[in-house]
Amino acid sequence: MVAATSLRQHALAILLEPDPQAKAQAALALPTAQAPSPTLVLDRGETIALTDDQLGLIPGRPSKPALVSATQVPTRSPFTLEGRAALLHAICHIEFNAINLALDAVWRFANMPDAFYWDWLQVAQEEALHFNLLRSHLQSMGHDYGDFEAHDGLWTMCEKTSGDILARMALVPRTLEARGLDATPLIQNKLTRAGDLRAVDILDVILRDEVGHVAIGNRWYHHLCAERGLDGKVLYPSLIKQYEAPRLKPPFNEAARKAAGFTDDEIAFLLDVD
Ligand SMILES: [Fe+2]
Ligand SMILES: [Fe+2]
Repeated sequence: MVAATSLRQHALAILLEPDPQAKAQAALALPTAQAPSPTLVLDRGETIALTDDQLGLIPGRPSKPALVSATQVPTRSPFTLEGRAALLHAICHIEFNAINLALDAVWRFANMPDAFYWDWLQVAQEEALHFNLLRSHLQSMGHDYGDFEAHDGLWTMCEKTSGDILARMALVPRTLEARGLDATPLIQNKLTRAGDLRAVDILDVILRDEVGHVAIGNRWYHHLCAERGLDGKVLYPSLIKQYEAPRLKPPFNEAARKAAGFTDDEIAFLLDVD
């Protein structure tokens, strides 16, 4: 990893890191608003341009898992060891990409308030923790990250929205990460029935932190809407269409969504999307 003195350049260097262990370790060591770095300076006005070498290397990732389309990922029973490992691997891959999406928000988008960068640096740390917890659990089952194919929906939406921070906030944290709030209790039920209480505990940690990530998405979505004089409730459906975001399906985790800042109106809207 290239040493940087700019905190946002440092986030880019971690994003480019292909080795998952090194990436997670570096993300966990990121400074926070409470414990800033004496050497890494946060410059919100800095515009960072990718070099030719860096183009095409975002995000840094290992050669495995092989990436396939979502429809090619087989559904497996969580009641076999192999099927449960495949399920946990899919979540582990989401967490890997979640480290990347948090780092991408830090380096890519200039001129946001300092709090925006600190928020996403904290998210990067928490995603690295989630990744490590799931990877260790996979290893305890005789598997590892990279053993199964994975789909890249989360990162694909990051790429589609790389030109507009407002669309990024709308469709990545407050749509795709929010979908995780809905899905997690259902997955926990399956894992409980399969007897994997360690995985259920890990998902408790993830669910708790993800409420915070979605809240951060909501916070900056509404901040940007206010700055541009847009009505977030009117804009959201048009962004869903424009960027072909996946349709969200009930049941929605209303308690977690409300804790993350969604209003009753916004939750009701999800039930009506065409
Ligand atoms: Fe996560
Ligand atoms: Fe997250």
